[in-house]
Amino acid sequence: MLKGKHIILGITGSIAAYKAAMLCRILVKEGAEVRVIMTPLAKQFITPLTMATLSKHPILVEFFNPENGEWNSHVSLGEWADMLLIAPATANTLAKMTTGIADNLLLTTYLSARSKVAVAPAMDLDMYAHITTQNNLQTLRERGVEVIEPGAGELASGLIGKGRMAEPEEIVEQVKAIFAKECRKSLIGKRYIVTAGATIEPIDPVRYITNHSTGKMGYAIAEELAQRGAEVKLISGRTTLPTPTGVQRIDVLTAEDMYNAAVEAWQMADGGVMCAAVADYTPMSVADHKLKKSDDDMSIALRRTKDIAKELGATKGCRTLVGFALETDNEEANAEGKLQRKNFDLVVLNSLQDAGAGFRGDTNKVTLIDRDGHEEHPLMSKREVAAIIVDKIEKISK
Ligand code: C5P
Repeated sequence: MLKGKHIILGITGSIAAYKAAMLCRILVKEGAEVRVIMTPLAKQFITPLTMATLSKHPILVEFFNPENGEWNSHVSLGEWADMLLIAPATANTLAKMTTGIADNLLLTTYLSARSKVAVAPAMDLDMYAHITTQNNLQTLRERGVEVIEPGAGELASGLIGKGRMAEPEEIVEQVKAIFAKECRKSLIGKRYIVTAGATIEPIDPVRYITNHSTGKMGYAIAEELAQRGAEVKLISGRTTLPTPTGVQRIDVLTAEDMYNAAVEAWQMADGGVMCAAVADYTPMSVADHKLKKSDDDMSIALRRTKDIAKELGATKGCRTLVGFALETDNEEANAEGKLQRKNFDLVVLNSLQDAGAGFRGDTNKVTLIDRDGHEEHPLMSKREVAAIIVDKIEKISK
């Protein structure tokens, strides 16, 4: 996928620069040709020798080589590149990118680049959360720069929060997705709805019933559909994920809210993907005060929720509807049953018995079941699974 792609890897002065070595190695391994530009401060974090060895080219830092006066042309570098990937991108570099300050080779190359530009921010949580940084990132997004979101976790400062540069493997996945989206806009004019995440069924003002769904699979599908040009409404239960670029997100809480939002959006849709983990039961009544404990056991009366997928299936006509099945036993037979019962065109079966599949993780192992048969796939990233599901949707809808 990255074979022959010209990538300029820009490295700025962040402790996360050590991850740029692995990033460079993976890009080269995937077939990309990589030229590295470092800011002067980046050299303090990772040596030019390391990056030159991994990228197989001398590192560029200055406008010219002081030894022989050779000029490093930012203009021709910018023309050469298929992508300028700045990873890690510091708050300082992001700020300069938004204002047009061009006081190093990386920034002048950014201003000259005609290629796609992607940034992977890395900084301390307060710097990341600062309104200035957030505004700068928003400005860059609006100008078409792809922002590869940082992760949350322990930071070099010892603080815990969001700001840690995305892992190299994740960045490479996103680089591939950016290239893929460039060359295929096969779903322009199509409208899709996607349900994702977990619903929350309140018991009282404090407690609720929910499940382990993170929404990652549904969000990846919404992103894939949008990248291929579709208009996407993402009806989302609880998740901590950012809204994918170009997707309209509708936040809901309960199964009932999700049902109402989905049924309404379905009226104008060409297809739907039911990825949400919807509660099958909800408390009969929600207490308006916090339930007090007593020494006795207690039980909560539950009633069935409405099946969103079934309702959409019943009014499907010739549109395409995809559902998910997460089974622990009799997997394929149960999934096939769902194909019939809910009038799905495609059921994506993920089994909890497969390591790396199902909830929480970034990978999934699926079997696609449609009326023509079964298609088993190996373990892959949820982003890749999203691509094969959308490929299938395109095939079915033809
Ligand atoms: O019947 P089961 O819940 O196992 O079916 C799973 C599929 O049905 C998933 O695609 C899920 O999003 C969808 N579903 C739904 N509304 C419900 C329950 C499940 O849309 N109330």
